[in-house]
Amino acid sequence: MSVITLENLTKDFGNGRGIFDVSIAVRKGECYGFLGPNGAGKSTTMRHLMGFYQPQSGKAMIEGLDCWGDQKHIQQKVGYLPGEIAFPEDMTGKSYIRMIAKMRGMKDFSYEKELEDFFEINPAIELKRMSKGMKQKIGIILSFMHKPEILLLDEPSSGLDPLMQNKFIDLMDQFKKAGTTILLSSHMFEEVERTCDRIGIIKNGKMIREVDAKELRHSRLKTFRMECEDETDLERILGKFPEAECNMTTHSVILSLPDSRINDLIAVLAGCKLRFLKEEKHTLEEYFMQFYGGDAND
Ligand SMILES: Nc1ncnc2c1ncn2[C@@H]1O[C@H](COP(=O)(O)OP(=O)(O)OP(=O)(O)O)[C@@H](O)[C@H]1O
Ligand SMILES: [Mg+2]
Repeated sequence: MSVITLENLTKDFGNGRGIFDVSIAVRKGECYGFLGPNGAGKSTTMRHLMGFYQPQSGKAMIEGLDCWGDQKHIQQKVGYLPGEIAFPEDMTGKSYIRMIAKMRGMKDFSYEKELEDFFEINPAIELKRMSKGMKQKIGIILSFMHKPEILLLDEPSSGLDPLMQNKFIDLMDQFKKAGTTILLSSHMFEEVERTCDRIGIIKNGKMIREVDAKELRHSRLKTFRMECEDETDLERILGKFPEAECNMTTHSVILSLPDSRINDLIAVLAGCKLRFLKEEKHTLEEYFMQFYGGDAND
């Protein structure tokens, strides 16, 4: 049985805006990436899952509970990080964390403290004096501190510096290993690539594609760029990979190949003198970019 279920969820805000017939099923322990351009409907979908919006038609369910009818129960159970966090500005981070913890009936604060140390934040100052990244860290602590079994994360690493983004991915990994079910909306391909098992793409309020991340990672060609010292190296590469694009003046080589041929490439390169070797940009990013902008509806 799926833990997070959307069945033909529809909310029409008028003028073609909203979400239309969105259906998703996220299994226990799965990390589902929810991708799409600005205004596609990701946050609207997540708000339905938190019971903030009543569906116009269709259903949003978590562990079989109706998110609208059982919103109190759902909100207790789920760790939710909103895309835009509205904090009470006159409180300190710490007092706000304590208030939410009390509402959840939390008694043990050891893990909350651990998260403060992990993200290197001192929440003792007023929320209104905090930087964007600091506020985001408070939001993360609020959604993870009770170790929920289900996480709804709406662009969780926005505002975090690269070091903290990496730490955040490590944190998601820890939760994944503990069997947490995660729905993650993100514009960061690296975050999606490193954490998601499946990815759904939404555009103009409609689901347009669902892909298995592992299959995608391994089935697509990877492109490598390299530069060799000697012309004889280029000949050696062309002998094994006639499809390689070689520039005889600069000694640069561009070669695209599937994972199944990587060992052949390494064997050839072992006999070459390389100036450098690099893999071109993420294949996932390349794949998903076609759904951003333009009219690539399918
Ligand atoms: N309460 C509302 N009333 C009217 N229109 C709304 C409301 N909430 C969202 N919309 C519209 O619904 C569409 C989807 O918005 P949503 O915030 O879900 O997009 P998103 O995918 O989260 O985008 P982003 O990547 O920018 O966060 C947008 O066109 C938005 O203007
Ligand atoms: Mg959003």
